[in-house]
Amino acid sequence: MQLLYEGKAKKLLSSPEPGMVVVQFKDSVTAGNAAKKAEISGKGALASAISIKLLEVVSAKGVPTHFVKKMDERSFLARQVEIIPLEIVVRNWAAGSIVKRLGLERGKIFEPPLVEFFYKSDSLGDPLIGESHIQALGLATPEEVERIKQLASKANSVLKEYFLAKHLKLIDLKFEFGRARKNHKEILLADEISPDTMRLWDDQTNESLDKDVFREDKGDLLTAYRAVAQRMGLI
Ligand code: TMP
Repeated sequence: MQLLYEGKAKKLLSSPEPGMVVVQFKDSVTAGNAAKKAEISGKGALASAISIKLLEVVSAKGVPTHFVKKMDERSFLARQVEIIPLEIVVRNWAAGSIVKRLGLERGKIFEPPLVEFFYKSDSLGDPLIGESHIQALGLATPEEVERIKQLASKANSVLKEYFLAKHLKLIDLKFEFGRARKNHKEILLADEISPDTMRLWDDQTNESLDKDVFREDKGDLLTAYRAVAQRMGLI
């Protein structure tokens, strides 16, 4: 398999099946646009297993995704998409960047959930943008933005409910979407959904079970990710 792209936490490999790619999770973990890095053996497999399950969960509730099938312990087959360079963050409670940006109290509830767009650009540090910026930069059409907002909100509400049943609060999460290679009009939820790309707090103690453990040196990342996988019944 040929390497098509290497990111901070994943590799994209070619697949012999036409129109498909292999998403392979690495053991690398980075924070602050790779200012902080580590290799944690076993992290890739956990992020892969959790992502596959969550992509299946949202897909079963009508959110189309790129996921096709599991390949091995750290990779899955996916439909090839043209990634729209936006990070869509949905927030159910305030944490992370929004707390600093708007001077909010950590844990403030957002009802309805807040949807934010960030322009996916490492060199610019993924700036927050609005819908007019998306149009001005030609990143997506107004129809695509509407569809993305609808799918992101739906996926968030499905996952929030899924995690509440596991005694976890889905504080916020980041989605990426792509245009299907075969039918450009079709928008698919792409990338991963894992504790690397979401905040999950224990519903009793508010303990973080996500990448904040690494970002803020709050304990052992693998223990946190294992606890999530365990509550999801994966291990
Ligand atoms: P933030 O509070 O730093 O803006 O992050 C919001 C959510 O999005 C959080 O769950 C982490 C996730 N996220 C990513 O997955 N990738 C990123 O590059 C950023 C900035 C956030």
